[in-house]
Amino acid sequence: MSGEVDDAQMAALAMACVWRGLSLEETVALTKAMVESGATLSYPSKAFVVDKHSSGGVSDLVSLVAVPVVAACGVRVAKLSGRALGHTGGTIDKLEAIPGFNATLSMDAFVHQVERIGCAIAAQSDALVPADKRLYHLRDRTATVRSIGLIAASIVSKKIAAGANAIVYDVKCGSAAFMREEREAEALARTLASVTDAFGRQGRALVTDMNEPLGRSIGPGVEVIEACRILRGRARDERAEHVCLAVAEAMLELAGVPDAAAVARVALTSGRAYRKFVEMLGAQGSSESALESIEPSDRRMPLRAEREGYIAAIDGAALGHAAREWAARDKGAGIIVRVRIGDLVRAGDSLAEAYGADADETLLRDAFAIEASPPPKRPVVYASYRAGERW
Ligand code: URA
Repeated sequence: MSGEVDDAQMAALAMACVWRGLSLEETVALTKAMVESGATLSYPSKAFVVDKHSSGGVSDLVSLVAVPVVAACGVRVAKLSGRALGHTGGTIDKLEAIPGFNATLSMDAFVHQVERIGCAIAAQSDALVPADKRLYHLRDRTATVRSIGLIAASIVSKKIAAGANAIVYDVKCGSAAFMREEREAEALARTLASVTDAFGRQGRALVTDMNEPLGRSIGPGVEVIEACRILRGRARDERAEHVCLAVAEAMLELAGVPDAAAVARVALTSGRAYRKFVEMLGAQGSSESALESIEPSDRRMPLRAEREGYIAAIDGAALGHAAREWAARDKGAGIIVRVRIGDLVRAGDSLAEAYGADADETLLRDAFAIEASPPPKRPVVYASYRAGERW
């Protein structure tokens, strides 16, 4: 940041990190230097603050649910989020589909809101970890994004700077994730937990399935509608709710809440989590009526199965890319997926619906593979790691 190391040298260092890897000690040193490149947040009340991070997936609405669930259980959550990256949707883009929502809080306003109502979700501030912005831009231009050490330093530095005492990482694994292989996802999960621990904060990392979209909806507006259904205890799909609750449970456990799984579920079924979400919207310029006004675009294109068989694969990355492109012009545009991998369908059954003027039937059809025999079953949550151990 002082200009002593120029872009060429820094890009060469990034390439060396990709080729040679970074040890844990080197990753911690880089993370520390990045944290120290900018401002850091602290919470005057000294209350325990938790945070969560996802490595990025499709229909990943976990933050919209887990943050209010945890806050409704009396634990403060301070979450700075990013925008869409590649085929993955960003939490801030989703929240901005709610009319009036203000994601650009000053860091003082962010801290104050966390202290006052127990949670806030806002866009990453340029004042925190400015070195990450510069290094990420260089990595993007030099094909040096995919290094476990560089990814961990980038993610953890922003979390440490935002001041949480404990952080839960949701490392997505599968065809629609940045980490395609379980081995890679596990290595990132272990590194995130260990680097967090080295800063005297508690880290926990889950590895969760991303071989198909997490929820049923893909696109900012439709994902908010689905998140609300889960928050009101009216989920139509177990997978998304399962991961939301697993992440919320880990956050509550780190905050020392006994019987965290049951406590998190009651927050959903009692409506407390939904009311906390509405309170957060109110604090950030929006309202329940604005939330209720969101609807999918009225141009609707159904996709039906051409033959009988088992759903063998769903190309979440292609669907994610398409939904992101369509939603750039129309926040109500998106895709609703009606089937899951392993489902048996008959000719004419509904596979999906696309919303918006740009919807493209060929793209949608190519995203679903139907085979004669069912694929092997996969878990939703593969594993959970703490520093140095499988949890
Ligand atoms: N997300 C980040 O914040 N940084 C990375 O390097 C990769 C994903």
